[in-house]
Amino acid sequence: MTKYKVAVIGGDGIGPEVTEEALKVVKAAGIELDTSSFSLGAKHYVETGEVLETKTLESLRGFDAILLGAIGPAIGSKEVPPGILERGLLLRLRFALDLYINLRPFSATKSSLAAGHQLYVVRENTEGPYAGEGGQLRAGTNFEVATQGSVNTYHGVQRCIRFAFELANETPRKHLTLVHKTNVLVYAGSLWQRVFEATASEFPDVETAYSHVDAATIYLVNDPGRFDVVVTDNLFGDIITDLAGAVYGGIGLAASANLNPAKTGPSLFEPVHGAAHDIAGTNTANPLGAISSAAMMLRHLGELEAAERVQKAVLSVSDELVELTKQLSTTAIGDAVAERL
Ligand code: IPM
Ligand code: MN
Repeated sequence: MTKYKVAVIGGDGIGPEVTEEALKVVKAAGIELDTSSFSLGAKHYVETGEVLETKTLESLRGFDAILLGAIGPAIGSKEVPPGILERGLLLRLRFALDLYINLRPFSATKSSLAAGHQLYVVRENTEGPYAGEGGQLRAGTNFEVATQGSVNTYHGVQRCIRFAFELANETPRKHLTLVHKTNVLVYAGSLWQRVFEATASEFPDVETAYSHVDAATIYLVNDPGRFDVVVTDNLFGDIITDLAGAVYGGIGLAASANLNPAKTGPSLFEPVHGAAHDIAGTNTANPLGAISSAAMMLRHLGELEAAERVQKAVLSVSDELVELTKQLSTTAIGDAVAERL
């Protein structure tokens, strides 16, 4: 049987704990991984002053996939200013490995606001305000100027929108919504809208819709069934997937795949939630988001049957134990999924 080479970055806070449960479940599903652990994140930075050395990045390119827990310092940490790890590690990996799709699926638990619905958010993952365009002048003075632009390339927008159409085409309702803010962000919005419309003509079976991002936050809460597949830019995607997490059963359940669909290198799989330093080490973090992310990794590696079994087990645990997941420990939830495979 194939042994996949997987780089494991547990990261910070609850990251290592939830990743361990994900690896436990993959093993229980009968998939053998050849894992290599990379100690990257806040602790590594404080100890070495390094965020992500070039030679580490180069060695990551040789893996079949990367499984990541969570990256980020404790809020208010003086040793690690905001942005150092996020930009230097997570975003650097997304950009350098050209992980241009951030696919975030949401399966509503029975007791959630979105019960009965399934949502996919296709978030552009290498551009927008995340690209780092901008700068500051006269910082720290009353004459400070700070600019932070949004970078949208035709190539970047088109490959993201095309991915979303292909995905929507495979879903039962074949319905795709573009979420943006075309009434205010007129340059970027116009590019997204035109590429969306042009691509729609190649997918005649896919029904399309448009929603401004502010209105989309209302619909996600009041009428979640309105959306099946959503495609959106990097920052809007970041925000609405936290909201979708809450509406579909809790952010602890939310999974993500940072994909290089061309497979010119490894893709990276991580739960949507952060490092949650406040509960780290207490064995109370919900590992289901990390376990679902591992299921997405299995699917990407071609292990469709195992991926399906893990995902089903996660759903059954999250449905039946939705109240209990608040009481059960991290390790007990991992065991419960492993038992149901
Ligand atoms: C996410 C996270 C990241 C993001 C941070 C940690 C850089 O919030 O994956 O959603 O903003 O993309
Ligand atoms: Mn986020």
